[in-house]
Amino acid sequence: MKQEKIYLKDYKGPAFSVDSINLDFVINEDFCRVVAKSKMNRTEDGAELRLNGVELKLVSVKIDGTPLKTDQYQITEEELIIPSTPKKFELEIETELQPQHNTSLEGLYKSNGIFCTQCEAQGFRKITYFLDRPDVMTSYSVTIEADKKKYPVLLSNGDRIKIEDLGNGRHKAFWRDPHKKPCYLFALVAGDLGVIRDTFTTSSGRKVNLEVYAVHGKQERCWHAMESLKKSMKWDEETFGLEYDLNDYMIVAIDDFNAGAMENKGLNIFNSRLVLADSNSATDVDFHSIESVVAHEYFHNWTGNRVTLRDWFQLSLKEGLTVFRDQEFSADMTDRGVQRIEDVDALRTGQFAEDAGPNSHPVRPESCMAVDNFFTMTIYEKGSEVIRMMQTIVGRKGFRKGMDEYFKRHDGQAVTTEDFAAAIAEPNGKDFTQFKRWYHQSGTPVVHVTEAYDQAKGEYTLSLEQTCPPTPNQPHKEPFHIPLMMGLLDKNGKELALNCDKIQVNTDGKNLIELKERKETFVFKGLKERPVLSFLREFSAPINLRWEAGEDDLYFLMEKDTDSFNRREMAQKLGLNLLHNLIARHREGKPLNIDNRYLKAISATIRDADMDPSFKAKMLQIPSHAILAQEEEVLDSEAFHNARITLRSAIARENRTQLLDIYHKYHGVEPKSHDPKVFGHRALKNQALHYLAELHDLEILAIANKQYWEAQNMTDRMTALMILADTESEFRDKALSDFYNNWKNDSVVINKWFTAQATTTRKQTLEDVKALTKHPAFNITNPNNVYSLLRAFGANIVRFNDPKTDAYEFYADKILEIDAKNPQVAARLCAAFNFVKKLDPVMKEKAIKQIKRMVAVESLSKNSRELLQSSI
Ligand code: TRP
Ligand code: ZN
Repeated sequence: MKQEKIYLKDYKGPAFSVDSINLDFVINEDFCRVVAKSKMNRTEDGAELRLNGVELKLVSVKIDGTPLKTDQYQITEEELIIPSTPKKFELEIETELQPQHNTSLEGLYKSNGIFCTQCEAQGFRKITYFLDRPDVMTSYSVTIEADKKKYPVLLSNGDRIKIEDLGNGRHKAFWRDPHKKPCYLFALVAGDLGVIRDTFTTSSGRKVNLEVYAVHGKQERCWHAMESLKKSMKWDEETFGLEYDLNDYMIVAIDDFNAGAMENKGLNIFNSRLVLADSNSATDVDFHSIESVVAHEYFHNWTGNRVTLRDWFQLSLKEGLTVFRDQEFSADMTDRGVQRIEDVDALRTGQFAEDAGPNSHPVRPESCMAVDNFFTMTIYEKGSEVIRMMQTIVGRKGFRKGMDEYFKRHDGQAVTTEDFAAAIAEPNGKDFTQFKRWYHQSGTPVVHVTEAYDQAKGEYTLSLEQTCPPTPNQPHKEPFHIPLMMGLLDKNGKELALNCDKIQVNTDGKNLIELKERKETFVFKGLKERPVLSFLREFSAPINLRWEAGEDDLYFLMEKDTDSFNRREMAQKLGLNLLHNLIARHREGKPLNIDNRYLKAISATIRDADMDPSFKAKMLQIPSHAILAQEEEVLDSEAFHNARITLRSAIARENRTQLLDIYHKYHGVEPKSHDPKVFGHRALKNQALHYLAELHDLEILAIANKQYWEAQNMTDRMTALMILADTESEFRDKALSDFYNNWKNDSVVINKWFTAQATTTRKQTLEDVKALTKHPAFNITNPNNVYSLLRAFGANIVRFNDPKTDAYEFYADKILEIDAKNPQVAARLCAAFNFVKKLDPVMKEKAIKQIKRMVAVESLSKNSRELLQSSI
């Protein structure tokens, strides 16, 4: 296996173009034959043809019908090289595959008796030798031949041409995709599947057939995905004027899938956990995720498929933009303020940690070892923030103008993030030269805020200074162009007029300042009293704010800010300050007492009858262990845990009656409803129950137990199960075994049972997890099983970093075991070691010992190797 890095600066356009490709698949039980006929053009004089191909068995290679002799081509581990070709020719390649033995789940593989493909990023080269790069786009015609009984459904991209009965128990389907595409968007499915159907009429009046496929018996759980698809299609027409461009849109749910879902043209393939849902089997969070991922994949049809990537370094061009689009869609479907809080939580928990760790990289990276490792929080979530900042700077109207320009310029092309930035900036008369540093510089910028008020002059001065910590290969940073939405409040919480020559009002009526220098000062005039600053509203930039605001201001904003994001942000900041003190006291062996002022403010929130329940649920969250791990100097899992439970139980003790009132008010109300409002009620009452459970009193445990047994939906059942699973009560084992017995044959649901046990804070969690890896329901080749048990455990900061256990060694063993079968899945587990530099010396040594052990394994994949070797 090659271990070198590839560099963006080495990019060279392809030396050949492909007019069209014809792919014939003959599927048998023990092998699959693929014949690929491509109409090729050599566009560079004398260039040799180098086709990508990995783990392929080549049967024959022909040019214009004549088989090549063995001295006319050369085969290496990763390429088929033909030194000399005509200028224009037909290339015919026959390969033989064994999908039933493909455990990497890229290329063509078999899941649960269904043949399916995953080609992004570089899986097509496991199907046939080809120019496997996104800037080679071509037209596809596909035939699939298979046993008619075993594989009645035969799908590929584009239009269904016909299906032929071959008479011998076999049949053959013909497909043609009218749109040119890169090979990473190719897809094929062959299996015995159930289906649900609906239609959507586009704004120009075309009728599109919509189909969602799943294994027989599960198709009735596909209706929520279908509804989500129709909502997405409508939203993209209304918001961006983008219409669907084929007669059919298909979604197929598959049990074994490395990622969430894949946007193959006209034929999306989904991890079944992101398709199948009904209220018995799926939680409110599942319903929400399904809606957003269905939307995400649908939106790729324009941002990714019609306009695609020039090379993989540009991945954020489609992913950042499409995440931004799905976040905006979710905001419109639910509650904009709450959605923003959730998106920022995810960004900070995952991406900020990544950007502060050993694998920090820019949104548009410059080098990599494994292309698959590009699918990161930075490319997706920070990439989305970069797009959002563009929209903030030019306003929504301006952004729409830029998007229209982007499609006008680049439809049908393979382009770069530079092209996108130009399409947004130019029609809006903006200069994004400095702004584009967001694409090129890694690390989370820090903005320091200092305030001064001059009573005599009536002037308020805001001084800002930006810095950015050094990151791998980037010791020094140039200043970023940072849009900062803000307001000033008077002492009653009313917005004050912003009298400052540097304030801008964008077309959405939002006040913002654009920080471009390292240090800048902003003077606001005509203020008779000291104003209270509300800064970084809606989290208008992905930065860390260092703002030593007085406590009075923080409490004031928590109660009164007109920006709901900031109200919750202030609650988080106050919670964080308090936890920080508790952690320090725990480490010094001092008693942990809770600041009364904070308790009073939280209690007031709990008692606030006017506050929207879903927003209240967000206000009541206290910073997670993952956030503490970023904010604290040392990752001391025991101190974190004690600080958090001390605070949570104090809140519960103080508000026992009120929390019970909330619980009873919303419990059992519309238990089957999928309305976002009802989701909010349930989130709040289940959070109330979680708080109450900290009291460890029998009355509360009995309520949780009753909720488990009488639950009418999965949200309530899972909440109760999670609570019981984290106790030593007699209820625990009964609930867990009941859940197992009910769902053991349901591949999607049983994963929740693994997660409930992997995420507890009980001391024996590691032993439970070890035992579960040997449980009959756990299959280490199934990514969902691995993620829900092992990755969930790796993210369990308290128990993964418990100094009294050998968790690191166990985890390293599992990474090695999985890596040999499926490098992509193994690589996703490696992030558990991202906090190594925060550990105390003894723990750090333990972790590094394991990392070194893994890296020393010669056969370790480049995926895992790239991520691990940077930590040592
Ligand atoms: N393009 C997919 C998405 O974001 C991601 C994806 C699907 C993926 N399958 C993958 C990434 C396999 C890496 C490997 O919608
Ligand atoms: Zn995507």
